[in-house]
Amino acid sequence: MITISNILSLRPLKLSDAESIAKYANNKNVWINLTDMFPHPYYVNDAVSFINSQKDINPPQVFAIIYKIKAVGTVGLSISSENKELCVDLGYWIGEKFWNKGIMTQVIKEMLKFGFKTYKTVDCISAYVFTYNKASIRILEKAEFVRDNKMNKSISKGGEKKELYYYKISRKQV
Ligand SMILES: CC(C)(COP(=O)(O)OP(=O)(O)OC[C@H]1O[C@@H](n2cnc3c(N)ncnc32)[C@H](O)[C@@H]1OP(=O)(O)O)[C@@H](O)C(=O)NCCC(=O)NCCS
Repeated sequence: MITISNILSLRPLKLSDAESIAKYANNKNVWINLTDMFPHPYYVNDAVSFINSQKDINPPQVFAIIYKIKAVGTVGLSISSENKELCVDLGYWIGEKFWNKGIMTQVIKEMLKFGFKTYKTVDCISAYVFTYNKASIRILEKAEFVRDNKMNKSISKGGEKKELYYYKISRKQV
């Protein structure tokens, strides 16, 4: 459990979070900013499968974002045994009802501390962000991630080609 404030914390996902996660994930304005691996529509069963996929990973890599008493989003690092020494990806989303309250700004700060402290061989944390996702670009830049334009790429999103910026932050910056 990572306590951020008296109303905000991070903890491993529980099956009892599935309904709340599905409620906030099932939103096109959330989905449009994530890769197509994030389902839309997003059903309770999608949340159950995702939560089950994480349950044996220790230390945890994905956390529920708990605002007041409920899970309103997730944040996680993709760390596999193959990429332990490379840059690992940070992914995050939060329910639209909770946007622009400064929540993810605080969450990212804590995840950087957690990631570098827990995974000693990780030297860099990265994030791909759609070029139209101004809020996410803003929070990455506020957290001192730096854009590496050589790594930008485009992918198919909802059947259309979309551009992504690549941001990264190294251990020595945190
Ligand atoms: C991106 C996201 C995580 C931001 O979370 P959040 O808790 O609302 O973020 P914060 O409130 O901490 O910060 C948002 C910042 O973006 C700014 N912002 C919001 N909309 C903006 C816009 N259209 N243009 C420019 N800045 C914008 C806010 O003003 C704020 O900056 P400030 O603190 O300087 O005022 C959230 O919108 C979300 O979950 N979106 C859908 C999923 C997603 O995009 N995931 C990231 C994929 S890379």
